[in-house]
Amino acid sequence: MIKKGIILAGGKGTRMSPITKAINKQLLPIFDKPLIFYPLSILMLAKIKDILIIVNKGELNQYKKILPDGKNLGIKIKYEEQSKPRGLPDAFILGEEFIGKDNVALILGDNFFYGQNLTNQLLNYKKLKKGAKIILHKVKKPDQYGVAKINKNSKVTMIKEKPKKFVSDLAITGLYFFDNLVCKYSKTLKPSKRGELEIVDLINKYKKKGSLKANLLGRGGAWLDTGSIDDFYKTSAFVSAIEKRQGFKIACIEEIALSNSWIKKKEINNQIKFYGKCEYSSYLRDLIK
Ligand code: DAU
Repeated sequence: MIKKGIILAGGKGTRMSPITKAINKQLLPIFDKPLIFYPLSILMLAKIKDILIIVNKGELNQYKKILPDGKNLGIKIKYEEQSKPRGLPDAFILGEEFIGKDNVALILGDNFFYGQNLTNQLLNYKKLKKGAKIILHKVKKPDQYGVAKINKNSKVTMIKEKPKKFVSDLAITGLYFFDNLVCKYSKTLKPSKRGELEIVDLINKYKKKGSLKANLLGRGGAWLDTGSIDDFYKTSAFVSAIEKRQGFKIACIEEIALSNSWIKKKEINNQIKFYGKCEYSSYLRDLIK
């Protein structure tokens, strides 16, 4: 069972410069809330309460303004600073103390998941005891992602980061589940040609040991990566369309905390005071009416 989760929310956001020169990408808005709320909501839906957020050196105070220590959400939030983007597996080197003897989930700060039955799927994924689990999703442009090839029995036969030649149209999404060996394996990785520790190299270690599992996020699920400006706005438009149509918010972290019975009316009222007079607060007020 996975009890701990890491959100990797650093990076230079180069593809979105100059917007990301003064503000980290994960603090920019996806429609009506900061991007970081979306990956955080995924961990909370998986009922993971012990969370480490990794941010760029010098940006800690900005994050703490919006997500202090998690008490207001009935969870525990800790922070680590990353001095430079050394690659995704660096999460398990920086996070070693936080992880301790537990298994851990990693979600990239710029990944967006939405879909029917998602909560049940998440609760299933987090049952992982041994090995690693990756979540795959069919995409039109696989050369932009890490991809995995699977055989008839859903066994992963090949993994590659941003392949120039077609390998598979199944992208490896930025949500991963690992057993405790992940810290040890991450420390043995060598930087790739682009100078980063690569998540595919880490996953390949599990594949070689025969302990890698893959799950497909079906057609009914949406997975969007908000890496480029275009993708960012498309995700924003998606959230806006669904929220306006249904009247429900996606990734309202207080709503999830309330429905998990981690907080009560009092905490919601505190959050309303904290956010001030805004549409998000009106939504919170309606929740406790
Ligand atoms: O989104 C899924 C894809 O994410 C996977 O399919 C790829 O296999 C994986 O390598 C990754 O690719 P990206 O090119 O999208 O990774 P990027 O460098 O953009 O980093 C993703 C997020 O992680 C972003 O929010 C910044 C953060 N990050 C990244 C690095 C390398 C850090 O906080 N620290 C880092 O050292």
